[in-house]
Amino acid sequence: MKPISDIVKDKPWLGWLLFLGTAAVVFLLGLLASSIIERRTESVYSLQMLKPIAEWEPRNEVWGENFPREYESYLKTLNMDFASKHGGSKMIDYLEKYPELVVLWAGYAFSKDYNQGRGHAYAIQDIRNTLRTGDNVLSPMPATCWTCKSTDVPRMMDKMGVENYYKAKWKDLGSEHVNPIGCQDCHDPKTLNLRITRPALIEAFQRQGKDINSFTRQEMRSLVCAQCHVEYYFKGEGKYLTFPWDKGFSADDMEAYFDEIEFSDWTHALSKAPMLKAQHPDYELFKTGIHAIRGVSCADCHMPYKSEGGVKFTDHHIQSPLNNVANTCQVCHREDTQRLIQDVYDRQDRIEELRRIAEKTIAAAHIEAKVAWDNGATQDQMKDILKLIRHAQWRWDWVAAANGLGFHAPVEALRVLGTAIQKGEEARRQLAVLFVKHGWKFPVELPDISTKDKAQKFIGLDMPKLKQAKQEFLNTTVKQWDEEARKRQGYLFEYKIKE
Ligand code: HEC
Ligand code: HEC
Ligand code: HEC
Ligand code: HEC
Repeated sequence: MKPISDIVKDKPWLGWLLFLGTAAVVFLLGLLASSIIERRTESVYSLQMLKPIAEWEPRNEVWGENFPREYESYLKTLNMDFASKHGGSKMIDYLEKYPELVVLWAGYAFSKDYNQGRGHAYAIQDIRNTLRTGDNVLSPMPATCWTCKSTDVPRMMDKMGVENYYKAKWKDLGSEHVNPIGCQDCHDPKTLNLRITRPALIEAFQRQGKDINSFTRQEMRSLVCAQCHVEYYFKGEGKYLTFPWDKGFSADDMEAYFDEIEFSDWTHALSKAPMLKAQHPDYELFKTGIHAIRGVSCADCHMPYKSEGGVKFTDHHIQSPLNNVANTCQVCHREDTQRLIQDVYDRQDRIEELRRIAEKTIAAAHIEAKVAWDNGATQDQMKDILKLIRHAQWRWDWVAAANGLGFHAPVEALRVLGTAIQKGEEARRQLAVLFVKHGWKFPVELPDISTKDKAQKFIGLDMPKLKQAKQEFLNTTVKQWDEEARKRQGYLFEYKIKE
């Protein structure tokens, strides 16, 4: 056969034909590719909407029928098989690990029971199980406690009105909250756009003159988490869920806010100090760190993109990024996996070193303050000391209660812990002056609180009794809740790892 150039020389029209033919094929291929990409996006967002989702649909498995990839990965939050050095999906008994915490929370429910959190799919089980929510006889919590646990919250708020919802008793709304944190909490059921469903976040920004609809998509990828992973308190008799952000996001700003309204969560059983309990200011601490400042969002590290069968989607297995460094950190950092994990540990280890010092200092201050009262100290003598203890513990807790052991903003975490230690030691110095001035026996002998058991005995908790009452509650009240929920929904999905 002659080479193609010779044929074209003989018949020039064939050259034109070849040229135009190729152009046409390329054009058609382009059309096809663009249509595939369009379809793919559609298939993610709307074509998969096999069944429209009702406005307040709480059941994750119903959403899952439309979005199987997101749903299947969401169910992996049930996994409990990853432990990093300080975090992961295993449950850690914090009172066992850091027994001083029992003394720090004497007179408050956290001294009974406090574990590291698990995945979102466990939220209902865990709030039922914790000793903090009480039993059939003692059930002190308001319904406000359900707010960050269930996809049933938006539905119930719509039905009852927000104010009435917060005012109700936790125990009275048990049968209405059976679906753990999920799709409804973060998404609009029609468009699947990210959506804020919790009024407290919207109201906190409103008070700062910001409209929740004015945030960018990248900001929303953090704000959906900030509905729950934040510091909050229950305001007034109506237990209205409120974020204390009016003066700013830092530990110091919130401390000033709480001091101004003279708020306290409880009075400490040993020192009688008016105490604050920090919840989990993940979003606030994160905001002060370099990642937030460079525009990285929570979802970038906790919900990375994933590919399956050529489809790119968001991994809804929300977990420690250290179990998935390739899809999280390494999207932006070139270092190898071990190096990046070590970077996290280096920061966490240093923060843990300071938090342990703070815990020991503040526990000693509470105990010494109690002995001062026992010796006949007066309100006047104790006032400044108690304020120092309040501030020291608030600052320690602000870092300790935040998830990730300070990694989200290591420099700020260390600064806040530094001031916690300084205030705790200042309280102890003033106590020492008081003891010496009055000739009371000094130094105060500190009890052995080296285990959770010993510490709980020291503050006078009857743990076997509490645990038995909880078991009874689970066997009676909770069974009844499930029965009622089954009647309402027709069935009850079992959140369990598939064997
Ligand atoms: C730059 C990446 C990055 C960003 C952004 C980020 N995190 Fe994290 N997060 C981490 C790392 C690393 C840990 C520590 C995990 C460990 O110790 O196993 C962590 C831990 C956590 C944990 C505890 C998980 C566990 O297994 O112990 C929670 C909850 C959490 N982050 C929530 C958030 C929230 C909410 C935001 C946004 C406000 C956020 N994170 C932003 C990297 C990130
Ligand atoms: C509706 C409230 C709510 C929203 C919204 C929410 N979380 Fe959570 N999150 C929780 C609760 C409550 C837990 C603890 C569940 C348990 O222990 O049973 C938790 C647990 C976690 C854990 C596991 C913690 C551990 O120690 O293993 C991670 C990681 C996490 N959340 C990250 C996020 C991120 C990232 C976002 C946003 C994309 C987010 N969460 C949105 C309430 C929420
Ligand atoms: C804690 C918040 C949160 C929860 C709970 C959640 N999502 Fe998402 N979802 C996100 C975020 C963040 C994105 C990324 C959106 C973006 O980048 O614009 C996303 C994206 C999506 C998308 C768009 C396609 C994709 O994969 O990126 C779908 C569909 C989706 N989610 C479905 C679900 C379903 C179904 C559930 C329940 C099983 C669910 N989501 C639960 C936060 C959440
Ligand atoms: C979306 C991009 C992005 C992701 C994902 C990301 N980082 Fe970063 N990281 C940055 C940027 C940007 C900086 C700031 C560095 C700069 O601007 O030069 C930074 C800074 C850091 C620093 C130094 C600052 C400090 O806090 O001491 C460490 C360590 C770090 N990242 C670790 C991690 C780890 C570990 C992960 C995964 C859990 C991760 N990063 C995920 C973008 C990212």
